[in-house]
Amino acid sequence: MSQITIAYDNKRMRRALPTAATRSGDNAVCASGLFHILTSAFIVSARIYLAPMEGLLDAILRDILTRVGGVDRCVSEFIRITHTLLPDHVYLRIIPELANGGCTPSGVPVRAQLLGSDPVCVAENAARLAALGPHGIDLNFGCPAKVVNRHGGGAALLDDPELLVRIVAAVRRAVPAHMPVSAKMRLGFNDDARAVECAQALEAGGADELVVHARTKADAYRPPAYWERVNDVRLAVRIPVAANGEIWTVDDALRCRQASGCTNIMLGRGMVVDPGLALAVRYADAQTDAVMGPGQSIQTAEGYPVVTWDEIKPLVGAFWLLVCARLEVRQQAGRLKQWLNFMRRRYPQAEEAYMALRTLHDPVLVRHWMVGQGILMANRGSVREDAGT
Ligand SMILES: Cc1cc2nc3c(=O)[nH]c(=O)nc-3n(C[C@H](O)[C@H](O)[C@H](O)COP(=O)(O)O)c2cc1C
Repeated sequence: MSQITIAYDNKRMRRALPTAATRSGDNAVCASGLFHILTSAFIVSARIYLAPMEGLLDAILRDILTRVGGVDRCVSEFIRITHTLLPDHVYLRIIPELANGGCTPSGVPVRAQLLGSDPVCVAENAARLAALGPHGIDLNFGCPAKVVNRHGGGAALLDDPELLVRIVAAVRRAVPAHMPVSAKMRLGFNDDARAVECAQALEAGGADELVVHARTKADAYRPPAYWERVNDVRLAVRIPVAANGEIWTVDDALRCRQASGCTNIMLGRGMVVDPGLALAVRYADAQTDAVMGPGQSIQTAEGYPVVTWDEIKPLVGAFWLLVCARLEVRQQAGRLKQWLNFMRRRYPQAEEAYMALRTLHDPVLVRHWMVGQGILMANRGSVREDAGT
């Protein structure tokens, strides 16, 4: 296998931000920017999904991250189903995209994720949710939270493949035939011995697609992710399988694809740390297709495009305005610091920003700091003209 360094034109990359996206069936295709230039010449079939992340990747951050581009589909944070039929306003609060044709403002489709262990309750809620028009229902079989697992939900269901079949089958029957039903699983609860059995159960229940987080519940979020075990799952089912876990860089994405055999991947914390990651993977894919022909894989060095801090700053401003518009005052500063805390891994400027804001809780003071940094306009409630919002 040849080793090549991807050369790139950072100016063109900059012009590509922020990208708009248009829908093409269930999958969004970026309609502008570098990605379009490249993919108009080379069909890149690999899909990149944005992971569901409860308490972190809500509609606000989905909006911001999908502005950057490269993401084909999002999944909402999980909505826990117990014994009640949730009213529409709960779904609309957690997935406001439902009021926008099921898409983020950039046009990227969002699937709604449900978490529950009672097939009847989950199915009844899925039917109600389906009427609101999400781009599919995703079922959570990976949540490691004790309170969820204690009630038999999330990753705990991986010890009961028969129940997996019943949950998926009930949901499949309850929602319209055209609506995709996917499932997201870990490799197991305490160990990965039943990973293939679980995947086959989800397929037997009628899931159209699987995403496999390449760790067990017992592994929590500790590296490594066992991508090669996703390959075992992939080979044992006929439905598409996407690999997830520990993809922080383009090289990780390529290694994950190689180890798992999956062309489709789901990015979680890596996208929060580096909002340009999906776009950079796209770039590498397009380069690969250009050099080797569609569907071939190559190893790259780190020569992929970078979204600079100057490009991130207006996104931070837009994020802050959305946070202020939609969240309670007591949550606002914390949300900004949460994202900066992730981006510290990638951007030294995010580290500086985080340190400057660490002790601030009052949104007025945060805003003052952002104006001082040129992220917000002093005399307006909006981000700078060049924010692209
Ligand atoms: C804060 C946080 C919240 C998460 N919430 C969800 C969730 O609501 N539903 C779900 O299926 N997975 C959830 N996950 C798991 C992620 O979707 C993903 O599988 C995991 O983070 C591994 O991918 P990564 O290494 O790319 O982050 C969550 C992970 C984190 C860190």
